[in-house]
Amino acid sequence: MTILVTGGAGFIGANFVLNWAEGIDEAVVNLDLLTYAGNLGSLSTLPEDFPHTFIHGDIADSQLVASILREHRPRAIVHFAAESHVDRSIHGPDDFVQTNVVGTFRLLEQARAYFVELDNKESAGFRFINVSTDEVYGSLGESDAPFSEETSYSPNSPYSASKAAADHLARSYFHTYGMPVITTNCSNNYGPLQFPEKLIPLMILNGLRRKPLPVYGDGLNVRDWLYVTDHCAAIRRVIEAGRPGETYNIGGNSELTNLQVINDLCELLDDLTDATEIGAHAELISFVADRPGHDRRYAIDAEKISRDLGWQPTESFTSGLRRTVQWYLDNEKWISDIESGAYQQWIKSNYGDRAESQ
Ligand code: NAD
Ligand code: TYD
Repeated sequence: MTILVTGGAGFIGANFVLNWAEGIDEAVVNLDLLTYAGNLGSLSTLPEDFPHTFIHGDIADSQLVASILREHRPRAIVHFAAESHVDRSIHGPDDFVQTNVVGTFRLLEQARAYFVELDNKESAGFRFINVSTDEVYGSLGESDAPFSEETSYSPNSPYSASKAAADHLARSYFHTYGMPVITTNCSNNYGPLQFPEKLIPLMILNGLRRKPLPVYGDGLNVRDWLYVTDHCAAIRRVIEAGRPGETYNIGGNSELTNLQVINDLCELLDDLTDATEIGAHAELISFVADRPGHDRRYAIDAEKISRDLGWQPTESFTSGLRRTVQWYLDNEKWISDIESGAYQQWIKSNYGDRAESQ
């Protein structure tokens, strides 16, 4: 048997493929466009004998997707491929509409054409897992209840709007065509292999390079943090036991302000590096202009996946953060490969005009 993973050279997709290869010997076909966020080096630790087929291509390329489905006949599609960074969606939303909306639509169409040709046994087992985000639900006030699967969609950034559009299309393919689609909405992931444009790896790298740690606004925006391997385990449970047509929220039980996250990181960096001589990392914290339309708080009620599928996160924020920092300390080559590419240009365009605000 085989599964098709899209975006398996990105942060969560690569962790998913690596985790899959640890426990399961079912083949993985990995379709990824290798955008700035895709990195085959992230898969370099895959066991040599693991049946992994990498295909360089676009989910929006219908002919390519049709031929992959015909040739490899997957029993499930796990769809991670996306443009995933809110700040980039503010600078240039086009790619977000192209990949997240048009790309997901084309993938769904090809999956449907494949699905209707399956025999009864194959179609009963087939699943399309649409990996989405809690950001589609919008922003919470301080005392609002966390997002549940019943919370209505209210996306605020071009990124979350494009993901919301994809989720609506995915939902419609279940209701209209009976395709066994399941959508998962998870909170902020962190862990090894995350591209250093997102909060946690950006702060780790800047801290290690003794560069300023740029906090947007007052630093009191709240996110729920989910360790990436817990997310991967949740998706495996959803493939095994999730009900077609359902959605599942996935969270890490770790609601924190950005300042709490950054302070914890600074303490860890002090602890794990030789900070005593050069000064505490917290001295690098620098408040900068806020992100336009910055959502104040995300929080996840993950009761449904716990009750129905028996999944719970296993990593606490304290243990997950320590593992993450240690991974970046141990993987200087992975970091320097990224820093030598177009990354510098992104740092300039996103942070260059954010004057220090305090
Ligand atoms: P990422 O940006 O690290 O990786 C995305 C991957 O998709 C890259 O390998 C990229 O090359 C590939 N890709 C982009 N466009 C493509 C296309 N048109 N065709 C084929 N491949 C393409 O993203 P991530 O953080 O791993 O996120 C994976 C999924 O999880 C996304 O759908 C994202 O919206 C969702 N999600 C992420 C988070 C998070 O905290 N990272 C939280 C909630 C949901
Ligand atoms: P991010 O990792 O971009 O995830 P998202 O916006 O999808 O939640 O950002 C997490 C939080 O950290 C968010 O509130 C924005 C904030 N942030 C900063 O304060 N400084 C930064 O340099 C970055 C990248 C994010």
